[in-house]
Amino acid sequence: MAILLLFALLLLTQGQAFPTENPVLKNASALDTVYPEIAEYSNTSEQYSTQASPLGSSRQIPQTIIVGVRKGGTRALLEMLDIHPNIVVAATEVHFFDWDENYVKGIEWYRNLMPFSYENQITIEKTPGYFTAPQTPERIHEMNSSIKLLLILRDPTERVISDYTQVYYNRLENRKPVQAFEDIVIKNGALNTKYKAIQRSLYDLHMERWLKYFTLDQIHIVDGNNLIKSPLTELQKVERFLDLPPRIVSSNFYFNQTKGFYCIRSDGKERCLHESKGRPHPVVNETVLEQLYSYFREHNKRFYNMVNQSFDWH
Ligand code: A3P
Repeated sequence: MAILLLFALLLLTQGQAFPTENPVLKNASALDTVYPEIAEYSNTSEQYSTQASPLGSSRQIPQTIIVGVRKGGTRALLEMLDIHPNIVVAATEVHFFDWDENYVKGIEWYRNLMPFSYENQITIEKTPGYFTAPQTPERIHEMNSSIKLLLILRDPTERVISDYTQVYYNRLENRKPVQAFEDIVIKNGALNTKYKAIQRSLYDLHMERWLKYFTLDQIHIVDGNNLIKSPLTELQKVERFLDLPPRIVSSNFYFNQTKGFYCIRSDGKERCLHESKGRPHPVVNETVLEQLYSYFREHNKRFYNMVNQSFDWH
């Protein structure tokens, strides 16, 4: 009887040794979509550690990292890449390289936060704060100097407004006082360039640090504005960059009129990103907008030269 049972078990597991889709591996991002506050703001989730390893799988240190930028569309990019059968994604924002208290825990701590994957799969984590954290490029380079990095950027002014909107809603939820966008961005009649959200949008200054450690061909820049309008185009470029077979197709996306964004269709299920993604932005005073556009203009030009690529930013 025991032998029969063992044989049946073997048959079952052999059929699953190299699946293209594995529910255990794919559950993580579904959970992430439903509870992004856990995924995005908590770093205590070590839920993977207690799971039994599916036969033939193991936890891998990410071969690719989405390093930012905050509010660039990092969640959408990760969720959309998760459609691909050869990709598994980490459920949480790990903050390994940018938070010293995590970094000191060591690489095995990091690996333990990754989902199980099979040999034909690559692991991706995303922590948007990496792009602007000064110590991160050197630390990632030390871990894997030939790693492939994904960076999703959007118009720097839009990014500032999106950043403000996120903080605005977080403060409201925590019953903290909120300020109008213009009151934060303009101080004594001039642009408040010390505002963190503005500094995060100085892509040239941040990129300079990354290019000290990585070559341009190791960093693929995803156009965050285009990911909103035409997700498939951007996802196909990422598939090519990662040398993956083209598996993401147009039927994986459908436009949701109510949300005003593309949502994902995969494994027979349809899902949109959490309601905190794609929130309406405040209407910003035109003069303030112009001030922001003109402040970023030189930085953008410098960035385009640095990466040999230009974008449709103001
Ligand atoms: P807004 O909420 O300001 O519109 P991140 O995940 O890095 O925080 O980025 C959030 C941004 O992703 C959103 O900013 C939204 O514009 C963008 N985004 C891109 N594609 C999206 C999608 N399909 N659904 C929802 N948001 C998307």
